[in-house]
Amino acid sequence: MPRLSHTAIKPVRAAKPQGAAKRQGAAKPQGAAKRQGATKPQRASKPQHAPKPQFAARSVGAAILRSARALRAARVCFGHGTTDARDEAAELVFYVAGLAHDLGSAAYSLPLTQRQATRIEALLQRRIQERIPLPYLTHRAFFAGLELYVDERVLVPRSPIAELVLQRFAPWMRGRVRRIIDIGTGSGAIALACARAFPRARVDAVDISVAALQVCGRNVRRLGWEKRVSVLRSDYFSAVGDRRYDIIVSNPPYVGRAEMRTLPPEYRHEPTLGLASGDDGLDAVRAIFAAARTHLTDEGILVVEVGNTEAALLRAFPRLPFIWPRIAMGGGGVFVLKARDLDAEMGT
Ligand SMILES: C[S@@+](CC[C@H](N)C(=O)[O-])C[C@H]1O[C@@H](n2cnc3c(N)ncnc32)[C@H](O)[C@@H]1O
Repeated sequence: MPRLSHTAIKPVRAAKPQGAAKRQGAAKPQGAAKRQGATKPQRASKPQHAPKPQFAARSVGAAILRSARALRAARVCFGHGTTDARDEAAELVFYVAGLAHDLGSAAYSLPLTQRQATRIEALLQRRIQERIPLPYLTHRAFFAGLELYVDERVLVPRSPIAELVLQRFAPWMRGRVRRIIDIGTGSGAIALACARAFPRARVDAVDISVAALQVCGRNVRRLGWEKRVSVLRSDYFSAVGDRRYDIIVSNPPYVGRAEMRTLPPEYRHEPTLGLASGDDGLDAVRAIFAAARTHLTDEGILVVEVGNTEAALLRAFPRLPFIWPRIAMGGGGVFVLKARDLDAEMGT
């Protein structure tokens, strides 16, 4: 998701990162990799309700200031597409006012109608009191330059893989890319970003969740990319036969059992299937490793987000030559493996 860049408006107080990654598109709660020195996710805590407003803010800028202040005071957890109170407030106000983020601070002096001000207030209260991630209230999320429909059937897209897709997985992917698979596609975010980055490739967007695939299908249709993006119900690779891919990409579930219990309340609105992955968080990665080589072309690559399960992964697979790309927008915990590097480990 691009920075919203609502920088002209001064925060009331400097916002402290609220546990989740200090970046757009923070990964799952632990997604901000240790290498970035990000804080641990916030522990679940009792919501601190914002004070009742005395009056509704009547300009875009005033509404952003007021909303940001309320979000900060309530100590909500960020990490679902925005990283601080001001950007989240800006998204809320711009959404309700029907404004494009490109306008930035030029829109701050615009007036709001009474109806818009009331709507902003209502959504803000739900965000704070019910700890609902904002994209589930607005039903929109931004990912790698795409606007996607989202609801509670899918994880809010925020994978740092977005940046690697936008770079067309350079320098690891060379040559023509014909086929890509996104395993655990959820809203279809990574699959659709890949379809845009590689206009001549065919993309399989697979997920085990029928509910998630309904959301994915909606996003594919919205973009009109049905001919190039296939939406398939699949338990990892189960539905793709012996198909081989130039790129296997995945942001699978990777939260371990103990960490699942400590997630901030915002994460409880997301599907458990999208987060939980066994005792050590590595069940999904193990399943992907087990079949990845047979589904990769010889020059193909495997790209997987594991967040702070990175340490457990390195212990479990000490011989695999993982590449950990530096991700400029922040975060990390994404590895790249070349097909041939999987050969030795997987005994193929
Ligand atoms: C962390 S979410 C990622 C969603 C999306 N790729 C994104 O980045 O926003 C993981 C997804 O994996 C799916 N999933 C879980 N187990 C799976 C399995 N055995 N086979 C395929 N998909 C699975 C979940 O339903 C969920 O949509």
